[in-house]
Amino acid sequence: MLYSEKVMDHFMNPRNVGVIENPDGVGEVGNAKCGDIMKIYIKVDNDIISDVKFQTFGCGSAIASSSMATELIKGKPVSQALELTNKAVAEALDGLPDYKLHCSVLAEEAIKAAIEDYQKKQ
Ligand code: FES
Repeated sequence: MLYSEKVMDHFMNPRNVGVIENPDGVGEVGNAKCGDIMKIYIKVDNDIISDVKFQTFGCGSAIASSSMATELIKGKPVSQALELTNKAVAEALDGLPDYKLHCSVLAEEAIKAAIEDYQKKQ
């Protein structure tokens, strides 16, 4: 099996899909090679990521990575969310094929971009 059960689960049944109205930060990133785009919205209360949602126009691994990444930062301090690496996302998914690792990089980048947007507004 090319993909782990966790990847399939988060692809078929992604968590935190959608939009946050009046978000505290938004990050949008894309990969020029595959053309996939990921957008992450965050709500921050007392320095905690109180809510996070995503929209991903992309491959299954990108959707699974966004879903897992949002789960990993939800309820966490902003400083901890900033430290989330694509490796941690891929590990939490029980691995991604090598040529699909860039999909998890999008998730890391989108979260960083959303937090930077939030910090800029402070
Ligand atoms: Fe582009 Fe997965 S193939 S993000």
